[in-house]
Amino acid sequence: MERPIDFDLIRNARFPEGEFGLRMIEGMNQGHAALTDWGFSQVESWGKTILDVGCGGGAALRKLAEALPEATFWGCDISPLAVSASVEMNRENTLNGRMTFVVCGVSELPFESKKFDTVFSVESLYFWPNPKEDLKEISRVLKPGGRFMTVLEMVGGRLSQRHQAIAERLEMFCPTAEELENLFKESGFCVEKILHDTERGWLCGVGMKMN
Ligand SMILES: C[S@@+](CC[C@H](N)C(=O)[O-])C[C@H]1O[C@@H](n2cnc3c(N)ncnc32)[C@H](O)[C@@H]1O
Repeated sequence: MERPIDFDLIRNARFPEGEFGLRMIEGMNQGHAALTDWGFSQVESWGKTILDVGCGGGAALRKLAEALPEATFWGCDISPLAVSASVEMNRENTLNGRMTFVVCGVSELPFESKKFDTVFSVESLYFWPNPKEDLKEISRVLKPGGRFMTVLEMVGGRLSQRHQAIAERLEMFCPTAEELENLFKESGFCVEKILHDTERGWLCGVGMKMN
């Protein structure tokens, strides 16, 4: 029999808080590692200023910082608990100024225009209030020629019953590959890649800001 869905825990994927939020953050740090690696492998060039939107517990930035010793990193998340967990996970780099974490939502990023070479987001776009406008806000903070990469494991039209129930309860937007591509285009990005790994059920989009 399929195990019941613990919505008290699962709702912390949208906004981690309290004890269950901490459990969810720990779970996501481990559970999203392979998906994150796959997304990272799709980015051809990172540049030196990099932002993670919806950074959760900060494991993705930790890994990237090891791979890109020349780069400087920012992470933001709407959840104060996620941001404090990210600081904890990246204590040394936060203290030495190589990494900065901010509590904020994607819709109003507290960064100057054209600051970043690359912005990425793992498993967060589902929860954004207005994905098209939010991608435009991401485009604003990207340099011309900069990239946005996102990866998702809940893909529209291919959800299991369990994922369907979670998506409905958490009011998630789970795009199909076509919807993700349209979203990139409608937000002004030049689409570099839309990849759907149907075996693992993963979806990755990479877009470039043209000017
Ligand atoms: C499923 S978790 C993924 C966290 C992390 N990227 C990872 O892969 O482990 C989604 C994250 O997006 C954040 N989030 C939700 N809505 C957001 C918004 N409007 N702006 C920024 N972050 C948001 C949540 O607080 C949560 O930490």
